[in-house]
Amino acid sequence: MSLVTMSEVLKESIEKKYAVGAFDTMDRVFTEAILDAAEQKGVPVILMVMPMSVEGPEAERFMGYVVKRCRESSVPVALHLDHSPTYEHCVKAIHLGCTSVMFDGSSLPYEENVAITKKVIDVAHACGVTVEAEIGHVAGHEGNMLDGNVADESAFTTVEEAKRFYEDTGVDCLAVAIGTVHGVYKGTPHLDLERLQEIRDALPIPIVIHGGSGLVEKDYKGMVAHGANKINFFTAMSLEAAAAVRKLLAEKEKLGLQDITIVGQKAAEEVVAKHIEIFGTQPLSC
Ligand code: 13P
Repeated sequence: MSLVTMSEVLKESIEKKYAVGAFDTMDRVFTEAILDAAEQKGVPVILMVMPMSVEGPEAERFMGYVVKRCRESSVPVALHLDHSPTYEHCVKAIHLGCTSVMFDGSSLPYEENVAITKKVIDVAHACGVTVEAEIGHVAGHEGNMLDGNVADESAFTTVEEAKRFYEDTGVDCLAVAIGTVHGVYKGTPHLDLERLQEIRDALPIPIVIHGGSGLVEKDYKGMVAHGANKINFFTAMSLEAAAAVRKLLAEKEKLGLQDITIVGQKAAEEVVAKHIEIFGTQPLSC
């Protein structure tokens, strides 16, 4: 019985200076890989579903399985809707069992981002669900994850706007742009850790970093030391799993689909376990 809210999963992360890994799933292979890795490490995790998983005829079946699997987990799991483009997706996700939702209004004008975030907070808090929002904008989205992205410094989050957004909305946790991108990096990433620290010092809520793939251990540790509490991660897990499958296909001729999924899942699990370790995630003390 371990499906909890994201506020619960992150409640000790500021004081104890660690981040909890947040990994995207869109099927059973990723779901099992992510939850198995967290169980193996004995620490909380955030399992993220995409908007496509809460819409359409398959939504109830898939989300039913995910919710049941989270409930049966031996570690605390927050089930989170990642990058919701609309208020309606957030409501649907709550209806289907998510304990946390992100409304992503980072490309909208400030006032519109605030207005929809507040509307989402009203319904989510009435249901005991955590809300994440984004101010500033992390470059790169689903369509171009593998083509390579460059961080846009003009869209980095400023301390003033982070403070103002928090005061205007009362959001539970906030995603900020400090130099990461979604998907593969074009060139070398440069993270503005000073900016992250200033935002950390100005806000009492957990800070979220999107675009966790493609960095080195020093970058992750730096982000955690300067205030990151949730690190979103997907592309590298998916690419490592694909590479393991490619290797298997090159080595063995006689293969069934089950051989391929087992190898892909194992590789994804190893990536998740390794990053949980780097993020310094700790078990909840109470
Ligand atoms: P990456 O795919 O770059 O790890 O980013 C994932 C993410 O931020 C999901 O919200």
